[in-house]
Amino acid sequence: MEDEEILDTFMLVSKELNKFDISYIHLCEADWDDAPIVPLSFREELRESFSNTIIVTGRYTKETANEIIKKDLVDLVGFGRYYIPNPDLVQRFKNNWPLAEIKDSHTLFGGRNEVGFSDYPSYIE
Ligand SMILES: Cc1cc2nc3c(=O)[nH]c(=O)nc-3n(C[C@H](O)[C@H](O)[C@H](O)COP(=O)(O)O)c2cc1C
Repeated sequence: MEDEEILDTFMLVSKELNKFDISYIHLCEADWDDAPIVPLSFREELRESFSNTIIVTGRYTKETANEIIKKDLVDLVGFGRYYIPNPDLVQRFKNNWPLAEIKDSHTLFGGRNEVGFSDYPSYIE
């Protein structure tokens, strides 16, 4: 959200949620082209204040996902758009196979059939 107090708000909420010992927080980070960068200080503070699993999503790649997990700032990274043209995303990541791209983004917002949403094939070597 475009809001000057958004990080303070999230931090307060995470501290309050922590009191309930909930299993995880999943942050859907801003994913548009000129989205604001999530500051490292926020990530570190969140890690300190929330005891259980932290999941993030939004424009991550295999590399940036591995990086943020290695830095122990989060526990899990979710993928959205990569999964649509790559139903075998995990295998592709694991084997360093090339990733397919979404052919027509208009098909993502509802269509009359499976075309462009669930008809992408798995990788064939
Ligand atoms: C077709 C499509 C529609 C989406 N619609 C919304 C939405 O209405 N509200 C929202 O907060 N996020 C929306 N998202 C973002 C996803 O919830 C998720 O955060 C994002 O796809 C994850 O990032 P990634 O796709 O870069 O891995 C949408 C994503 C896609 C692909």
